[in-house]
Amino acid sequence: MSPVRYALSDRIAVLTVDNPPVNALSQAVRAALADAVSRFAADEDAEIAVILGAGRLFIGGADISEFGKPPADPWLPEVIAAIEDCPKPIVAAIHGTALGGGLEVALGCHWRMAMPGTKLGLPEVTLGILPGAGGTQRLPRLVGLQAAAKMIASGKPMTAEAALDAGLIDHLGQGDDVLAAARSWAADLLAQGVVARPTGRMAAPSGDLSDMRAGMQAKSRGEVAPVTALDAVAASTSLSFADGMAEERRLFRELMDTPQRAGLIHAFFAERATAKLPEIAGIAPREIDRLGVIGGGTMGAGIATSALLAGLPVVLVERDEAAAGRARDTIAANLAAAVKRGKLDPDRRDTLLDVSLVTATDYDALAPADLLIEAVFESMEVKQEVFARLDAVARPGAVLATNTSYLDVDAIAAVTSRPQDVIGLHFFSPAHIMKLLEIVVARDTAPDVTATAFALARRLGKIPVRAGVCDGFIGNRILSHYRTAADHMVLDGASPYAIDRAIRDFGFAMGPYQVSDLAGLDIGFATRQRKAADVHPRDRAPTFADALYHAGRLGRKTKRGYYDYSDDPKGREDTETLRLVQEARTDASREFTDEEIVRRYMAAMVNEAARVVGDGIASRPLDVDVVFLHGYGFPRWRGGPMHWADTYGLDRILADIREFARDDDHFWQPAPLLTELADKGATFESLNRKDTK
Ligand code: 3HC
Ligand code: NAI
Repeated sequence: MSPVRYALSDRIAVLTVDNPPVNALSQAVRAALADAVSRFAADEDAEIAVILGAGRLFIGGADISEFGKPPADPWLPEVIAAIEDCPKPIVAAIHGTALGGGLEVALGCHWRMAMPGTKLGLPEVTLGILPGAGGTQRLPRLVGLQAAAKMIASGKPMTAEAALDAGLIDHLGQGDDVLAAARSWAADLLAQGVVARPTGRMAAPSGDLSDMRAGMQAKSRGEVAPVTALDAVAASTSLSFADGMAEERRLFRELMDTPQRAGLIHAFFAERATAKLPEIAGIAPREIDRLGVIGGGTMGAGIATSALLAGLPVVLVERDEAAAGRARDTIAANLAAAVKRGKLDPDRRDTLLDVSLVTATDYDALAPADLLIEAVFESMEVKQEVFARLDAVARPGAVLATNTSYLDVDAIAAVTSRPQDVIGLHFFSPAHIMKLLEIVVARDTAPDVTATAFALARRLGKIPVRAGVCDGFIGNRILSHYRTAADHMVLDGASPYAIDRAIRDFGFAMGPYQVSDLAGLDIGFATRQRKAADVHPRDRAPTFADALYHAGRLGRKTKRGYYDYSDDPKGREDTETLRLVQEARTDASREFTDEEIVRRYMAAMVNEAARVVGDGIASRPLDVDVVFLHGYGFPRWRGGPMHWADTYGLDRILADIREFARDDDHFWQPAPLLTELADKGATFESLNRKDTK
């Protein structure tokens, strides 16, 4: 059956794009749409046409799975040109979402309507490309240069209501049936005697984007698509429509060939693949109607907020009334911020706080909870004590979860009479904002408990990644390793500032020493104390970090850490830090270039990540990528550490490790999986394909 249906009644032709799940514009859809438009043009009984999407949305864009493959006729720009050049009027009737090529189809139509609540956007830059089917030339003709540039360079969608104000659409539909609304409006348009109104023939916009371009260039840190997209939009002011289209095509092709495009599209599919876990396929999750949270500090309050925002009632237990009051205040502040950001209705906030949230100091209050998440201090002793109490009060079949960052979930489960119900749910801070959730499956965790954790993640709008039990799971285990590589460089002469700069220039949001200041140097110090018994004689302690800690430089919270925040919230480099670091060095100092800093940092990251995959802690390399993209500020356009490693070359990483091992063959030991893949000339991607496709 054709993916575009043609139906005619009352002189209105309805062209329905039907290609589940998102009506993507695959080759088959493009060809069928072109055919349907020709049929309408030739159909003497049809005077106006409506294009709409079947199912829950209009059109989700070009078919991303075709990117990187040879282009197949007809091209989307040609199909849209056929719509625009049709002598009879064609209307786009949009519901749900119109994204990328989907919105470009609508821009090529002569009239546009959208149903209330619809989202319209050109998110191409988030995939490393730019709108390549006329979006950069038609949108500015409809909404003006600045508004079009902003929408295209940010990739952010607009609501139907805002689109009406901006002039992107002409009409807001009524009711909830897009077909009925479209037919009714098309009949009105017919009665008004409207004619075809090609966007491409509208007046060219005027204005200048050089300021926006300079701002974008400064903040893009190596990402090329947003700036290139602005260049394409700017072409609409100086070139004819046809030449502007040619320029758009040239820049689109240029971006299509970049590794950044490949990295961003890898990220898109990887994010959707982590939730597909063979071990829970077909297993029904347990029902979750009420959450229990134990500990209402930074994490517990954030987790409770996240649940409340998702409509799940919460019982939160703290140690005493004062702490319970503080937890409630934090949650109230989080919800107030959500209201401010337009994410929550003010009336609903009051209901969430007064009805959906219960705070208590007695563990018995947790008895009705279906899933309990512990977020107390990071101490095995405290956590085991809490789990023994939960075992006593939780109803049979309730899921017992821990938010521990590093600790052994098997050992926590072992103090309960129901280890099959215990799982790790490692949220990231702030828990109501960060999307990543590591789901730590312990030795005895029952498959339906794992399925329940994944179902909860979906409900909370999180991106779940399966992890196995080890010190630090996926993210923190790898982090510990590359942090150590950075610390070794500082011990050998690199300044923490030089390292942060090189790592930011690579594209990370922050360097490792800025992260230390944010988390607090006391956290690292406590971790070193906890692990003191496991230290190997050849491990090199970060003596400078201890020196800063003992000097009371705990980071942002004391206004001083590696950086000085006393008169600059961003932090200033400080000679006092450099003096403390120098005094704590015991070996001879040498210079490090930015290139060597990045090589060492990345080799350590990829090597430990290869161990994490090799040991089965992460199911696939793509799971590591998603953890780093969403939990550790890894530059999205590089696709994640494993995707990046494939583009850099596994043989080169192995050679780097062997080079570094000449000075330190204790720290630099190649992971068996890395050696195996490099020797075979294989990639990490080859392991992703095995499980997901
Ligand atoms: N092409 C191919 N597959 C797509 C797709 C696309 N454009 N958009 C979504 N899919 C797939 C997903 O991979 C997923 O597949 P799976 O079930 O096998 O994992 C399935 O469709 C459902 O997707 P989601 O889980 O994301 O569904 P949601 O309902 O949560 O979201 C959506 C729907 C908002 C449309 C979201 O999928 C989305 O943002 N898609 C990408 C939109 C986009 O970036 N479009 C621009 C493409 S580039 C372009 O158009 C170039 C043009 O200018 C020439
Ligand atoms: P926190 O110190 O802010 O909060 C802990 C809370 O637990 C305190 O409010 C304390 O009163 C309460 N508490 C302690 N014992 C209790 C008990 N027996 N019963 C009830 N409440 C009790 O700590 P934070 O940062 O929220 O961390 C909590 C857990 O989350 C730790 O295991 C930590 O490793 C983990 N985690 C922390 C992250 C972070 O960025 N802070 C990120 C991810 C996980």
